[in-house]
Amino acid sequence: MSDARTTNAYWGRDGLERRILDALSAAGKDIGAVTIDDLAPADQFHSGGKGATQRLARLARLEPGARVLDVGGGLGGPARTLAVEFGCRVTVCDLTESYVRAGEALTARLGLADRVTHRVGDALALEPAAWDVVWTQNSGMNIADKERLYAGFARALRPGGTLAIQEPMAGPVQPPVFPLMWARDASASFLRTPDEMRAVVEAAGFRVESWDDVSAEVAGPRVSAPAHSIQRIVMGDGLEAIARSGERNREEKRIVMVQAVLKRR
Ligand SMILES: C[S@@+](CC[C@H](N)C(=O)[O-])C[C@H]1O[C@@H](n2cnc3c(N)ncnc32)[C@H](O)[C@@H]1O
Repeated sequence: MSDARTTNAYWGRDGLERRILDALSAAGKDIGAVTIDDLAPADQFHSGGKGATQRLARLARLEPGARVLDVGGGLGGPARTLAVEFGCRVTVCDLTESYVRAGEALTARLGLADRVTHRVGDALALEPAAWDVVWTQNSGMNIADKERLYAGFARALRPGGTLAIQEPMAGPVQPPVFPLMWARDASASFLRTPDEMRAVVEAAGFRVESWDDVSAEVAGPRVSAPAHSIQRIVMGDGLEAIARSGERNREEKRIVMVQAVLKRR
């Protein structure tokens, strides 16, 4: 099991829905008629934003009606995109309670509650199930036990089901420069190399369908990220140092970003 208290203390923030709406309003958005595109800077909490979500969805060839479990799905930006643009029915599972509450409120505000649901849950304690797709973007970095994580993904899928991942992985140059978006220091960051990760997913019962290094395509957080970006809303002034080390980690190949699609055997 993951340590829910540590996860909530690191990622969680109070009043997130209000803070997001206020920030969007200050950026000139009409929050009475907010769209998934208006929300995207504030609810897609991963490198590459909504474009990276669309890229992974195309790579995974998601079909309308697919039943998707988004593990570590945060505020639900990716889930709402999969519902609106790809016709999926998505359940978001995340350990951070304030994200689940804010995500639920944003989903209701967009009238998507019939297609997107949110629940508090631990990626390391997934129930056996028969999802068509397990989806996870930038959410496994705090989890050391990758074997257990990927075995859980396999257990949650139907045979032949699809696992779609976007994950930072250890680059050829180590160690990474801290702070990272997900960790102040090495005690909370658990990245493996792409080769090591491929071995983990294959041993968990998956066949690799696509494995793309997207480090050059998907931009990380910028020092100049606007006030209505989720990185700024959550990390505040801490974002400057995170964005600077993020740039170094990318340029010096200390961290690489992978999008992959795996089929459960
Ligand atoms: C950078 S955010 C990404 C959120 C979302 N996937 C997205 O791309 O917008 C990392 C997320 O991982 C979640 N997380 C971390 N450890 C988790 C765990 N053991 N179980 C479920 N969620 C977890 C955090 O709560 C946080 O929402």
